[in-house]
Amino acid sequence: MQDRLQLVEGDITTLDVDAIVNAAKSSLLGGGGVDGAIHRAAGKELVAECATLGGCQTGQAKITSGYRLKARHVIHTVGPIFGAEDGDEDALLASCYRESLKLAVAHGLKTIAFPSISTGAYGFPMDRAARIAVGEVRAFLEANPSIEKVLLVCFGKESLRIHQEALAIES
Ligand code: APR
Repeated sequence: MQDRLQLVEGDITTLDVDAIVNAAKSSLLGGGGVDGAIHRAAGKELVAECATLGGCQTGQAKITSGYRLKARHVIHTVGPIFGAEDGDEDALLASCYRESLKLAVAHGLKTIAFPSISTGAYGFPMDRAARIAVGEVRAFLEANPSIEKVLLVCFGKESLRIHQEALAIES
């Protein structure tokens, strides 16, 4: 089980996986942070396809092609804004991971990489978010053998350290 969930440090836009997950805004029309990096790397066809999807609710996920990315698909999910979801932040963040993984299974995808959703502009404490991510992914992998590998992408050494701690606590 451990090896189906791995941490990797670096830039999610460089990964050769079936899908990378984007921490998007509800309009799905691009932004800063990892959203900006993914749209820059994918090219302008990505936002054109996103514009046909009619947005995305917090905690939900939608899938597009990956275009110029190495990843075949982008799964766009909208994380909770910390302190602005009436106390539902933890549940909504868990839903982002679960709904993204459900989409990957529905599309027959086997390898998927997540950024640390909501821990940038949306202000979710990273240690708490990492434990939710590890717990949710572990539970999903247990019940869904078709997913071969889930990567949690840590952007920088501090993020990697925090996620390593979360892995140890949640094991
Ligand atoms: N690869 C991997 N992780 C990255 C990258 C990258 N290239 N760039 C940033 N990150 C990390 C950040 O360091 C942070 O830990 O992704 C995490 C999520 O941060 P944000 O991108 O700010 O996403 P989020 O906090 O979910 O806020 C989403 O910001 O960019 C806008 O349109 C987006 O409105 C939405 C909001």
